Amino acid sequence: MTATVPGEHDAPRRQRSLSTYEGWKDFAERPPRDKPALLTTEQLGSLGPDEFARYNADRRAWHANILLRTRQVHGVHLQLGDILDSNLQDSDRVKSAAALDAPPALGKSTVVNTFGRDFHRQRIAEVGEYLDEDRDILHLPVCHITVPGRLTIKGLHMMILGFYAHPATAGILHRSMAGRDLARAAADCIERHDTRLVIIDDLHFIQMRTRDGVEVANQLKWLSNEYSATFLFAGVALRERGLVGEGATGKEAAMAQTFRRWTVLSLDPYSLRTKQTRQEWDSLLWHIEQALVLADAHEGMLVDMSRYLFARTTGNIGSLMDLIRRGASRAIRTGAERIDRKLLDDIRIDEGAETERTELQAKHDREDRARRDRRRRRLKSDGAQDTGEEAA
Ligand SMILES: Nc1ncnc2c1ncn2[C@@H]1O[C@H](COP(=O)(O)OP(=O)(O)OP(=O)(O)O)[C@@H](O)[C@H]1O
Ligand SMILES: [Mg+2]
Repeated sequence: MTATVPGEHDAPRRQRSLSTYEGWKDFAERPPRDKPALLTTEQLGSLGPDEFARYNADRRAWHANILLRTRQVHGVHLQLGDILDSNLQDSDRVKSAAALDAPPALGKSTVVNTFGRDFHRQRIAEVGEYLDEDRDILHLPVCHITVPGRLTIKGLHMMILGFYAHPATAGILHRSMAGRDLARAAADCIERHDTRLVIIDDLHFIQMRTRDGVEVANQLKWLSNEYSATFLFAGVALRERGLVGEGATGKEAAMAQTFRRWTVLSLDPYSLRTKQTRQEWDSLLWHIEQALVLADAHEGMLVDMSRYLFARTTGNIGSLMDLIRRGASRAIRTGAERIDRKLLDDIRIDEGAETERTELQAKHDREDRARRDRRRRRLKSDGAQDTGEEAA
């Protein structure tokens, strides 16, 4: 039996900040997890307490890390790949930057991080792990920063330096350094380690001095022109805040021109409006279903609850993954080993989703009833015809 329990040799993984080169390297280079084997209810019952606990821990870790390469993820990756490729080919040209601008919890960080990881691996494969023969200079193709609340542009340079563990971030040095010197030092790190992609996540937390953020936007423009890497920003309502895009900063012609070279990408929540979007939602659920490891799961376990799950999450992938993960955890903990409506009914998720839940669910219940009635009537009349034909 022990042979079928996965992950025994899988040492617990440390969670390090992605805003340090060690944490990022760890994230980008660690091998993908093995999916725990799917055991039957009987096999589960025959596990010893330790084996059982380990198996459950493996399943929880697996569920927490499910990654779905959805159409949207794929689409954004393709666009980002194009931008990076053209910047890599053409180093003299003014670099274009990209921004992923979307409402909360639609998967921005997931998309940029997975893109960064793929790019990191690709560059390491192409160029190698070190940049010199003595193996002194690490090749760090990607620099990743998550903006904490109220960071200034000077603070942003500090964070970039912090990513590379630059001595300036030890404290004493940076106080005497002017913003431009910090920026220069950061640019040196980027060049020294041949960094080609700088990801700045949660850009909306950056501190704005002016209401329309013109000054910050100007600095971002300067930053992405000055450094030899391609900048990828992610955040909420970046366009409205005037941080990216032409609209809000149209007053400044020079800036508007730079922003025209920036590609602003977006992510949308799922919708049930058309047949195609409904299929996409169902396909998402099907893929999640395939990824779950629950002994008593059955084909269609989630897809059959398609509209219910939509009502619970309003098509927001963050809320959906949260609900499913909590449902799966509870199913493991209680021994239910399956997810159904009764189990999910009892699990609360984020407030946004919960507020819209009641209204949407009532509407869907009404529509479902009407659809069932229509189907029943249709079957009845078809049945009547069939019987008629048979008799004929
Ligand atoms: N493609 C995906 N596959 C699996 N899970 C996903 C995917 N996209 C998003 N999620 C899940 O949705 C949740 C929110 O995702 P993420 O943090 O990437 O969103 P975000 O847009 O960066 O949110 P925020 O606005 O809070 O920064 C996470 O729990 C994540 O695991
Ligand atoms: Mg995020």
